[in-house]
Amino acid sequence: MEHGSEQLHRLAEGEALDRAGYLEMIRNRENLREEAASLACAVRRRFYGDRIYIRGLIEFTNYCRNNCYYCGIRGGNPHADRYRLTEEEILSCTDAGWELGFRTFVLQGGEDPFYTAEKLATIVRGIKERHPDCAVTLSFGEHSRQDYALWREAGADRYLLRHESINPVHYASLHPEGMSHENRLRCLRDLKELGYQVGAGFMVGSPGQTEEDLAEELCFLRDFRPEMVGIGPFVPHKDTVYAEEPAGTSELTTFLLSLIRLTLPSVLLPATTALGTIDPEGREKGILAGANVLMPNLSPVNVREKYLLYDHKICTGEEAARCIACLKERIRITGCEIVTDRGDHRASE
Ligand code: SAM
Ligand code: FES
Repeated sequence: MEHGSEQLHRLAEGEALDRAGYLEMIRNRENLREEAASLACAVRRRFYGDRIYIRGLIEFTNYCRNNCYYCGIRGGNPHADRYRLTEEEILSCTDAGWELGFRTFVLQGGEDPFYTAEKLATIVRGIKERHPDCAVTLSFGEHSRQDYALWREAGADRYLLRHESINPVHYASLHPEGMSHENRLRCLRDLKELGYQVGAGFMVGSPGQTEEDLAEELCFLRDFRPEMVGIGPFVPHKDTVYAEEPAGTSELTTFLLSLIRLTLPSVLLPATTALGTIDPEGREKGILAGANVLMPNLSPVNVREKYLLYDHKICTGEEAARCIACLKERIRITGCEIVTDRGDHRASE
C-alpha cells in the first residue's frame, strides 16, 4: 500500500487526522492524487451533487493601505494604475450580474480607506434592496469588529479573508511589520461570531512555505471549520519583492483542494482564477479535484486590467457574459453543471 493511502481513506471516512498524517499524504502526493480526487468528488457529490456555484466578483477598488510583499496592488507599488468604482457603478455591475443569473456578489478590494464603514454599509444595503434574493460576500481585508458588525447588519452574508499563513514566522516573511498574524486571526474569529459564513485560506507555494506548513494549514482548517476555503497558487508579480520567485503548481493546489474537501466535506471551495492562470485547464482540474465554486469577474472591462494581484491574470479582457459562456462549456466537460442559486453552505455535521 502507498504511503499515505491509509490516511487518505481514514480521512474520507470522516476520521480527524493529525499533522503527521497530512504530512505523509502531502509528501506522497504524486502517487495519491488520483485516488484523493476521486474520493473528494464522491464526498462533494454527497452534499452538492454535480452542482457548481458561481459568484460574481466585483473588484471595486485597487487602492490599498497595506503592503503585502507578494501583492501587485500593494500600496507601495507606484506602477499600479489606481481606480475606484462608484456606488452607482457597483450597483450596475450587480444588475448586469443578476440578469446573467448570478445570485451571489463578492465585493473585493484592497483596504481602501475611501470606503468608510458607513459608505460600504450603504452599498451593501443598496444591493440587498435591489436584489433581496442574492447573497452579498465581502472581501475587504482587516477591520474592527464594530465595522464587521455594521456590514452584517446592513445585510452582508459572507466574508472572505484568507489568513495567508498559519505559521506566524512564515506570515511575517510575507507581510511588513505593521501587519499582524494575530489581528488576521482575530478578524476571522470576530466574523464567525457575528454570524458571517466565513472563508479562510492561503496561497499555495508562497515564498518560504514548506510541506510542514501545509500540513499545519490543514490542521487549522480542520479545527476552525470555515464555511468556505480560498486557496490558489502564488503567482509572482513583477513589481513586488517576490517577483523572481517561482509560482505555485497546479498539481499541489489540486491535491490540497482534494484534502480540504475530505477534511471539510460540505465546504464551499472555489477553483480560483489564479489556478486558471498558471494552468490553462486549472479551473477544470480544480473541479475534478473536489472544488465546487467558480468566481467569474463582473467588474467593468475597463478596470479589469488594473486589478492585477499577479502577472498574466486571465479573463481581463472578457465581458462577463462571455466568461460565463466559456465557463459553462468548460464545466460541462467535467460532467458537472453550473447552477445559479445562492449556494449557501450546507451543514454537514
Ligand atoms: N484586501 C483584501 C484582503 O486582504 O483579503 C482582499 C484583496 S486581496 C488582494 C485577495 C487575495 O489575493 C489575498 O488574500 C491573497 O491571498 C491573494 N493574492 C495577492 N497577491 C497574490 C499573488 N501574487 N498570487 C496569488 N494570490 C495573490
Ligand atoms: Fe492590500 Fe495586502 S497589499 S491587503
